[in-house]
Amino acid sequence: PNSEELKLLKDHIESFPDFPSPGILFRDIFSVFRNQSASQALHSLLKSYALSLKGQIDVVFAIESRGFLFGPYIGQVLGIPFVPIRKKGKLPGVVERLEYGLEYGTDCIEVQEDGGKVGQKALIVDDLIATGGSLTASCQLLKTLGVEVVECFVIMELADLNGRQKVPSKVVSLLQF
Ligand code: PRP
Ligand code: ADE
Repeated sequence: PNSEELKLLKDHIESFPDFPSPGILFRDIFSVFRNQSASQALHSLLKSYALSLKGQIDVVFAIESRGFLFGPYIGQVLGIPFVPIRKKGKLPGVVERLEYGLEYGTDCIEVQEDGGKVGQKALIVDDLIATGGSLTASCQLLKTLGVEVVECFVIMELADLNGRQKVPSKVVSLLQF
């Protein structure tokens, strides 16, 4: 990727200590969209990334909610469908559901069962990987559709947390923190 664009992008990601809870340094992707040149850099980086996948992917999935900022655009550049993965009870029609364990309690994600066909190659998109829990659960959920997750793509990776080790698929990140 273009190193000037990467620098511009990184310089415009605001960090908020102790949000949403003590000890968390929150990386706010939305701050990028307040700045025209950073926003353009992100757009250009996403386009180049998407074009590098041309012919290799059949369908793009993204994780609620910040993944929805990028999934539809990547799908459009590649000329393939975009399909959302959402928290329980938000998607109409017939859905596949996965319940998974968190540090405390459980979470539940869903995808529409006609969102992917058996044997299709998929990309999953999100803004950030921390523990890797969301991407890992999404990979598992898509397995129930018979879809093959070829790659996961995030803008930001919290490298110290080693989330990519948990994910049963290749993980590509634009920026590492
Ligand atoms: C954030 C982020 C990723 C996830 C990463 O989403 O957008 O989806 O956490 O963390 P993990 O790698 O430890 O799973 P959040 O659950 O805050 O939801 P939001 O995008 O709707 O704000
Ligand atoms: N999701 C999980 N950890 C996060 C962080 N540090 N900043 C933004 N989103 C997150």
